[in-house]
Amino acid sequence: MVEMSQMTKNLSRKNSKGFVVKMRFLHKRSQAEKANSIFWYRYFKWLLWFSLSSYFFVSFLITRSSNPIKPTSFSLPKHSFSRALIESQHPITHPGLLNGMKVYVYNLPPKYNNDWLKNPRCKNHLFASEVAIHKALLTSQFRTLDPSEADFFFVPVYVSCNFSTVNGFPAIGHARALISSAVQLISSEHSFWNRSRGSDHVFVASHDYGACFHAMEDVAMAEGIPKFMQNSIVLQTFGVKYKHPCQEVENVVIPPYISPENVKSTLAKSPVNGRRDIFAFFRGKMEVHPKNISGRFYSKRVRTEILRKYGGDRRFYLKRHRFAGYQSEIVRSVFCLCPLGWAPWSPRLVESVALGCVPVIIADGIRLPFESSVNWPEISLTVREKDVGKLGAILEHVARTNLTAIQRNMWDPATRRALLYSDPMEDGDATWQVLNELSLRLSRSHKRVSSV
Ligand SMILES: *[C@@H]1O[C@H](CO)[C@@H](O)[C@H](O)[C@H]1NC(C)=O
Ligand SMILES: *[C@@H]1O[C@H](CO)[C@@H](O)[C@H](O)[C@H]1NC(C)=O
Ligand SMILES: *[C@@H]1O[C@H](CO)[C@@H](O)[C@H](O)[C@H]1NC(C)=O
Ligand SMILES: *[C@@H]1O[C@H](CO)[C@@H](O)[C@H](O)[C@H]1NC(C)=O
Repeated sequence: MVEMSQMTKNLSRKNSKGFVVKMRFLHKRSQAEKANSIFWYRYFKWLLWFSLSSYFFVSFLITRSSNPIKPTSFSLPKHSFSRALIESQHPITHPGLLNGMKVYVYNLPPKYNNDWLKNPRCKNHLFASEVAIHKALLTSQFRTLDPSEADFFFVPVYVSCNFSTVNGFPAIGHARALISSAVQLISSEHSFWNRSRGSDHVFVASHDYGACFHAMEDVAMAEGIPKFMQNSIVLQTFGVKYKHPCQEVENVVIPPYISPENVKSTLAKSPVNGRRDIFAFFRGKMEVHPKNISGRFYSKRVRTEILRKYGGDRRFYLKRHRFAGYQSEIVRSVFCLCPLGWAPWSPRLVESVALGCVPVIIADGIRLPFESSVNWPEISLTVREKDVGKLGAILEHVARTNLTAIQRNMWDPATRRALLYSDPMEDGDATWQVLNELSLRLSRSHKRVSSV
């Protein structure tokens, strides 16, 4: 973030210079009509050209001087923001990108990760960010093979790939034991865990209630986060703005996994700014009479209320059954409802944004992925659970007033890229955002703290 905000500052300084130039140009023209406008035009065009060139030249010099001979074969990243703003083909290099952060990826025996990939669902389902982030890091330029120069240590354990033969959902009963045994292994074979008591070690916990590893909230809360993970950093899909035992750990809220290939093939058929004939869309579990399970109702009855109130409303396209081609429905919709289920988060958030449908978040207190870089209030709507009965009026109001602005923000490729785990990793994609979040936590890095 330090790097990013510096970049932004540089850019905005440069931009504002361009703006001043333009302003003065207009001003002069209207004021002194007799002046030779062609002269001024040429002068300012030259000035603009000169300031741009000096920017590139200086950034080239900085790059060179602070990046002494590094025998790496990979190219340094082109920063997505600068690329978008400058619209230039110049490869802009930033050696200090993410503060020069380095991540070491433990090479664990295959029973902790690769063996699970025998089931092809393992790398493609909702919880597969644990696989995607691992895979992306392996070929990332932020990876180091030398643990002594690492700021963070990634522990690649796949716990969401033991699919139940009964209902097809991942059984995560073995998660604690599997991760515990991985920690046992790395702490006995390497010195890095003991040295920081795990505080610079990073885990992924991509299911309902993060590192609590249970699908039911009351059990998850009672069991809490295993002791051996409490001092580490957890990348988790679960996040709320209030105190909750399943986030009592240094954590980063990450998006659930949605296959970028699927999104790409959906958008190949219907572009993001194409025709949208469905006003409000939801497909998923909506119980007419939700059961009271240990004092809790599914979706706190929000989905039941949506069905009751809008089931017969022609503006609402509500479906209760599974349909493999549901992405083709999202891309046809203006608003996509993202109500809570058992947990507040849902894959619909990512799919809506990626496919250009305005997400309507109905999950009080939810903490959203990458809030420090994704401007959620600009690209989504939030409706309080208790206001779900007014959805129709709220959406109509937005459609009349600021829908176009929200769509324009959300359709920005940089926004849509930020929630998807590209393979290989791309600047600004979800894995990049994870690394960016880690770079804000360099104070947890044993290497940084002990070398100052
Ligand atoms: C997978 O889950 C089942 C329960 O559904 C459990 O019996 C089995 O031990 C688990 N497998 C592993 C390798 O942990
Ligand atoms: C780390 O600490 C544990 C428990 O105190 C110990 O069993 C283990 O041998 C230590 N690891 C190393 C590499 O010294
Ligand atoms: C739900 O069930 C619990 C018992 O499990 C009961 O105490 C509670 O009152 C019920 N809540 C509602 C709203 O019916
Ligand atoms: C759009 O309007 C709604 C309703 O007035 C408001 O809650 C929301 O913040 C606005 N969003 C943007 C991006 O302007």
